[in-house]
Amino acid sequence: MNTSGLHSSQCSLVRGAPFWRPLRTPYALHISSRCRTQRFDTLPIYAGEVILEVKDLEAKVAESGQTILRGVNLTIREGETHAIMGTNGSGKSTLSKCLVGHPDYEVTSGSVTYKGQDLLSLAPEERARAGLFMSFQSPVEVPGVSNSDFLRLAANARRKQLGQEELGPLEFYGYVMPKLAALKMSPDFLNRDVNANFSGGEKKRNEILQLSVLEADIAVLDEIDSGLDIDALRDVADAVNSLKRPNSATLMVTHYKRLLNYVVPEAVHIMEAGRIIYSGGLEVADILESDGYEGIKSRMREEAEKQPVGAT
Ligand SMILES: Nc1ncnc2c1ncn2[C@@H]1O[C@H](COP(=O)(O)OP(=O)(O)OP(=O)(O)O)[C@@H](O)[C@H]1O
Ligand SMILES: [Mg+2]
Repeated sequence: MNTSGLHSSQCSLVRGAPFWRPLRTPYALHISSRCRTQRFDTLPIYAGEVILEVKDLEAKVAESGQTILRGVNLTIREGETHAIMGTNGSGKSTLSKCLVGHPDYEVTSGSVTYKGQDLLSLAPEERARAGLFMSFQSPVEVPGVSNSDFLRLAANARRKQLGQEELGPLEFYGYVMPKLAALKMSPDFLNRDVNANFSGGEKKRNEILQLSVLEADIAVLDEIDSGLDIDALRDVADAVNSLKRPNSATLMVTHYKRLLNYVVPEAVHIMEAGRIIYSGGLEVADILESDGYEGIKSRMREEAEKQPVGAT
């Protein structure tokens, strides 16, 4: 049994078991002080294969050389949804952008393995074709390129990679219309230029439409909830949930528990100063909401005090 990233003594399911839903265990209880600051490696066992493994990732801003990520560790298995929360400027977007190969950042050490392959050796477009999708905190506008052309090109690049037939304009229309309907988006979106003059909420919906069209295997959603009114939040959350597959995974960056009430994560990570400093279940978001980041810090102190003397 491969228990990479997990403590075998805590295994209650083995990989390959016919369950992809995780056990709902209050795993913060299991987190030792060592792994709390190092690796998220005392989660209960999930059935899925590891889809994304980030190890000791360090990265800097390419232009200025400023170090942002200072040793991020994260393991995500198929079927899981993980949330990353953390103060402004802690490195959440930088991590997300490093995963998709954004040219503003340079990875200086560590590794990222995606479906068993070295993600960092792939060009950004190869990562996208391989099923890695990111929705940006501030999606870019692309005037002059229609949404339908953009989406069809992107979908066909992915389909080609998967060995599927490419879609002509008419076929694509048939393919995308149900996806628009599921997102409660008007077909008018297809004729508009990519994100040009879209409201903040429309841009976020458009990001999810891209995710839906690309049928990505891992979706990295950076503040997909920001700027959404309450109904739009529910629509987007429903869409994210409906796009989940047993062999896909979702990584959401958010500041607020309200998104996590709809898209319920198996794990919540707290990021600070370029590292994941604490990980647990949904209760971590509850602590954050009620007591802020000081609440997380005092929980960490309490757990450290409970450690037997000599434990690392
Ligand atoms: N391209 C860049 N050039 C210069 N500094 C950058 C760049 N990208 C990120 N930074 C800096 O790195 C730090 C982390 O930024 P990042 O956007 O990853 O934070 P974040 O956790 O996503 O914050 P927020 O919650 O506000 O979105 C910040 O201090 C930011 O100013
Ligand atoms: Mg950010």
